[in-house]
Amino acid sequence: MPHRLVTSHKPASLSDNSFTLINALKLDTKAELDALAKGLLAPAASLSPKFFYDALGSTLYNAIVLTDEYYPTRTEAAIFEKFRREIAAVIGSGKQFVDLGSGDSVKAEKWFAALKPSRYVGVDISESALNDALSRLAGNADAPELFGLVTDFSRVLDVTAVIEKQPTVFFYPGSSIGNFLPDDAVWFLKQIRAHCVTHDCGLLIGVDAKKDKARLDAAYDDALGVTAAFNLNALRNVNRLLGCDFDVNDWQHRGFYNEAMGRIEMHLEARRAVKIHVRGEVRAFTAGERIHTENSYKYSPEQFEAILHEAGFRSPKLWQDEKRDFNVFYAKN
Ligand code: AVJ
Repeated sequence: MPHRLVTSHKPASLSDNSFTLINALKLDTKAELDALAKGLLAPAASLSPKFFYDALGSTLYNAIVLTDEYYPTRTEAAIFEKFRREIAAVIGSGKQFVDLGSGDSVKAEKWFAALKPSRYVGVDISESALNDALSRLAGNADAPELFGLVTDFSRVLDVTAVIEKQPTVFFYPGSSIGNFLPDDAVWFLKQIRAHCVTHDCGLLIGVDAKKDKARLDAAYDDALGVTAAFNLNALRNVNRLLGCDFDVNDWQHRGFYNEAMGRIEMHLEARRAVKIHVRGEVRAFTAGERIHTENSYKYSPEQFEAILHEAGFRSPKLWQDEKRDFNVFYAKN
């Protein structure tokens, strides 16, 4: 049974602006937890990076982006700042703005003045984050009409409940596309494109670029150990979700660039032999055995253009920083 909760909020004191929030998150957390347990019990153990983002994990991620070594977020922000008018002119104003993984909506809000969106649709897995973000935006009298959809689009993207059939810009910043395997990235972009049901729709997306291994290694294994804490925190979250007995002290962070695969890999590596109880079963890990927790693919402009093309998008335009550390594309349907 899909859990569907529609709420209209009218903050009395802030402004006349209200917003509509729809929760389409199906209550099949059981299937998610089954998949999590299955991944831990598998011979090559893994867990999905979505299990990083409990309250502490989200806070640690916000700290990662402030480390000296983690360049993607600030580089993308600088590209947006520098080329805002030019990018906006290519997109065209007055479109519906659909923000995929909207979080605190801060990145999106910076586009409002330049793009004058007809409506803003935040899409996120966290109802509390969406609710906070929309409440904040609603306090701004100049904000467009505001909508929110709570859903897990890593499983399937369906935003039909909240979007209007009108020219739309889909916004997918931050290189989150890198978490998908390349074939799955094409599949995900095809789903975005399937929502482009009128002329003049497009996708504004941020994609991290390939670069030398030393810088990539450092970005995912920073000196302060923030990324290590972020990775290890997944074990605390798994203990909470599945009632497992991981001891964080038994594990260490591994984060490195796998050049042959063109991706960052993050793993949790057992410091010693340990036995973990996973729902009545025992999973024995040998010393040095790893749990694969994340891939973060890095794409050359040509590689990502090919992916956009395969997904059916056309005329991609590219903006980069001077060092070409990060790619921002706008492509049309
Ligand atoms: C949120 C997926 C874009 O891959 O760079 C940061 C997550 N993991 N440091 C990334 C992450 C470790 C991040 N994304």
